[in-house]
Amino acid sequence: MNKLIDKLRTAGSLSKSEFEELINCDKNTAEELRQTAEKLRIENYGHDIYIRGLIEFTNFCKQDCLYCGIRKSNLNCQRYRLSEDDIMECCREGYRLGFRTFVLQGGEDAFFNDDRLCSIIEKIKGEYPDCALTLSVGEKPYQSYKRFYDCGADRYLLRHETANAEHFAKLHPKSQTLESRKECLLALKEIGYQVGCGFMVGSPYQTVGTLAEDLLFIKELNPQMVGIGPFIHHNDTPFRDFPDGTLELTLKLLSIIRVMLPKVLLPATTALATIDPIGREKGILAGANVVMPNLSPVSVRKKYQLYENKVCTGEESAQCKGCLEARIRSVGCRIAVNRGDSMNI
Ligand code: 5AD
Ligand code: FES
Repeated sequence: MNKLIDKLRTAGSLSKSEFEELINCDKNTAEELRQTAEKLRIENYGHDIYIRGLIEFTNFCKQDCLYCGIRKSNLNCQRYRLSEDDIMECCREGYRLGFRTFVLQGGEDAFFNDDRLCSIIEKIKGEYPDCALTLSVGEKPYQSYKRFYDCGADRYLLRHETANAEHFAKLHPKSQTLESRKECLLALKEIGYQVGCGFMVGSPYQTVGTLAEDLLFIKELNPQMVGIGPFIHHNDTPFRDFPDGTLELTLKLLSIIRVMLPKVLLPATTALATIDPIGREKGILAGANVVMPNLSPVSVRKKYQLYENKVCTGEESAQCKGCLEARIRSVGCRIAVNRGDSMNI
């Protein structure tokens, strides 16, 4: 076996320069890495793939991340908010289809203040006590995170985007800092959330060095979930002319993360499915064990456009789930109808 893969598997980490070497590895080593990752996924999670029902409930956002299609400066973005009733309808349909985790994802929208969010959290957890509820609503004060947790939220997704402060500053306006992002992630952990961090592969100004720093940061944070997907340009952002992230590098990083944290939850993201017709399937074969299809009403799906050509925006939730089921079966796996809590505790 390749020495670096073996060291990563047995020691659980590598030095920065070793990570760089592994990220730069050739095709043969990449295939060996993939096989190791797939084996570890099966050892820890069997052939179960967990599904999370994503509800994109608002695309209003006060932030201005340079890569993102719903950034506040994008005046071409048609803004929408779902009502509490709309959100409950998404959950009802999702539950019927077998979803036992709902993910409320949205821009940083002042309309959904703590009171409004808590009311939605309580309503969902009241009607579906057997389901896990994940929030993905960006950076908030400690006290807000605490309130959401106390009224029933179980998990929180907040990608760190890059663990290198200079790189972070190239992706975001001055008002956003890596320091504050890290503080949020630590607060979420301390409160007791199951936490997900992550980054885009191939984001502008990313280097093999910053990727190695991402891996070291993830190892140190030891989150329950890691969300990674390729950067995909959006034509109404300052990054419109940057190239998209590649399938090969995304798959390689998925495998490295699986080998580094064998029990972590690892989604095969919609962005991965967008750059390759069977991107999600390839992601699963590279070690991923989660998929997060959209439960939002079809009428708003195209408006939640973080990047160009996002897939699955025209299908009803039931159609999408059927399609996904067949895709998951095609790689020898099955959808699990349960909360799918992380084994990485
Ligand atoms: N391409 C790929 N991923 C993106 N995200 C935002 N914009 C893009 C893009 N253009 C990712 C970010 C964010 C998550 C919700 O979506 O990493 O954290
Ligand atoms: Fe969504 Fe195929 S997975 S339509």
